[in-house]
Amino acid sequence: MRIHTYEKLWIVGSMVLIVGFIVTITYGSVGLGITMIGNEEETIAPNELNDDEQFGEPRVEQIGEDEYAVYVVAQTFIFQPDPIEIPANNEITFHVTSRDVVHGFYVPGTNLNAMAIPGQISEMTVEFDDSGEYGLICHEYCGVSHHEMEGLIVVQPEDEFDLTDLSVESQDTVAPDDTIELTATVENGQLEPLETTVDAEIGTETFQREVTVDGEGTQNVTFTVDSAQLGEGEHDWSVSVDDEEETGSVEVVSNETNGTDGGADT
Ligand code: CUA
Repeated sequence: MRIHTYEKLWIVGSMVLIVGFIVTITYGSVGLGITMIGNEEETIAPNELNDDEQFGEPRVEQIGEDEYAVYVVAQTFIFQPDPIEIPANNEITFHVTSRDVVHGFYVPGTNLNAMAIPGQISEMTVEFDDSGEYGLICHEYCGVSHHEMEGLIVVQPEDEFDLTDLSVESQDTVAPDDTIELTATVENGQLEPLETTVDAEIGTETFQREVTVDGEGTQNVTFTVDSAQLGEGEHDWSVSVDDEEETGSVEVVSNETNGTDGGADT
């Protein structure tokens, strides 16, 4: 049977098109890793988020040597946490849910793109190769301030990233013959032990203390100064560790007006 040249061309052309369609559909549904929220996925009651172990305190958590989990809560019209600080070149899994209505979770220029649906948890795993700041926007209409709903993802170089937290307790007022005492609590949210230096300043006195904090542990450091050394009046203090800093002031006052701690007047 003789087939006309034009007819051959059309047959070949339509075959190529059919194969092309199959390839693009396969790539689009499998190759890009786009998934729908399925029936088997975990669900969560939106009105009980505050009691949830993960979403009660939206945060970044280290879950393996080079793996982090981020728990994100979307609600009108914010994302929590904000900013989201994560290390580059690590496997980051985002778990996103909503407290109220349907929101979007979209980082332009990346394939981080999901819906935040009340009751459902969207999960995406990504790795950022480059450090820098990435805007996060809500791309599902969610109310009057939808257009203002945004967040920020800060990707830090791997060797600069930490999950160190600092809190400091001090008195408000101290008697002239007493001792000013600052207690700094350094919290290490990473799995590896943290070796670092805590710097403190109370009035004119400066301190530096080396600390080692266990993985997922805390360590207290206490700094003391005799109030007589600084004299009566208000004295500023500051404590810093890595990028964290806490500041405050303590007042040295003579006994008549002094409270023991906290300086509450009764
Ligand atoms: Cu949230 Cu739009």
